[in-house]
Amino acid sequence: MKKIGILTSGGDCQGLNASIRGVAKSLYEEFGDNVQIYGIKDGYKGLIFGEYKLMKQEDFSGILTLGGTILGTSRQPFKLMRVIDENSVDKVANMKENYKKMGLDCLVILGGNGTQKTANLLREEGLNVVTLPKTIDNDVWGTDMTFGFHSSVELATQVIDCLHTTATSHGRIFCVEIMGHKVGWLPLYAGIAGGADVILIPEIPYDIQKVAQTLNNRIAKGKRFSIVAVAEGALSKQEAAMSKKEFKKSRSEMKHPSIVYRIAEELGAYVDNEIRVCVPGHFQRGGSPCAYDRVLSTRFGAAAAKLIRDKNYGNMVGLVNGKIIPVPLSEVAGRLKTVPTDCEEILAAKAIGVTFGD
Ligand code: F6P
Repeated sequence: MKKIGILTSGGDCQGLNASIRGVAKSLYEEFGDNVQIYGIKDGYKGLIFGEYKLMKQEDFSGILTLGGTILGTSRQPFKLMRVIDENSVDKVANMKENYKKMGLDCLVILGGNGTQKTANLLREEGLNVVTLPKTIDNDVWGTDMTFGFHSSVELATQVIDCLHTTATSHGRIFCVEIMGHKVGWLPLYAGIAGGADVILIPEIPYDIQKVAQTLNNRIAKGKRFSIVAVAEGALSKQEAAMSKKEFKKSRSEMKHPSIVYRIAEELGAYVDNEIRVCVPGHFQRGGSPCAYDRVLSTRFGAAAAKLIRDKNYGNMVGLVNGKIIPVPLSEVAGRLKTVPTDCEEILAAKAIGVTFGD
């Protein structure tokens, strides 16, 4: 009997259930009645505290289009994994013990960067793991694409589309904050797809005067509206020159609830036009996966089951040049896939006159 555990960890995204389904259905096809799947609740938390249950085949039906995760998820920071907490809980020891208690042959882990790091830690501790790359941020190293990204691009683009119509009616400038603290793939794609006039991403620190100049040029040309797509993690050139410590301090003293509000206020000093802010927030992570993500999730799920069949553990499934391949977790862990500032998407956006504030 094969015994497989499965968990989803970190921020949720579209396609988690589609991926869980892909893994489970492929395992049942492969092993028939000779496989048992344990669903672990709320990510690594369930593995630490022994919250899991034996799943039934029917649990994995009807979930292809369902948003969120049927297993629940939580954030368990990697940097605290080896820290014994105030209740004397040794998280790593507990996870190993519960893996043993379930009698697992392999643990399937769906998650983003932090999750991949902990999965690698478990691999180093001798557990058999196979992982899938999830996140709306598309910042997992070792894969060209994560599931969740395209669904989120669709939603963020819809937001910009809707802002366009109301901005045009009223002759307003809209600054819209798109998710992505460390990397700017999502604001970049949604910004291009939504026809934003300015896109600010963490990889390209901005000069507020340059942004204002673009908006003033548009006003001078008689354009009634402008859209500024701002990454959650956008930062100014001055901030980029700060040490990590200085930057943290300066952000902790920022009076604005998030960066987009500060940018809107700063622009107000240079631009004579009404400026409004929109923060779609977690809306971007919700709802049904788009068709692309359903296909990608199914491919990733099927590939994970194949790795389990072949006992090819210690890998993440990744999409590289259109092919799904195993990528060693030792290579994935601790690396971030940022936006290259000379990538084709940025060059194309610049070619049509989009400003990045640099
Ligand atoms: O990692 C996905 C993501 O949605 C990021 O884009 C965002 O910065 C972060 O999670 C928000 O995290 P939380 O849901 O914990 O507030």
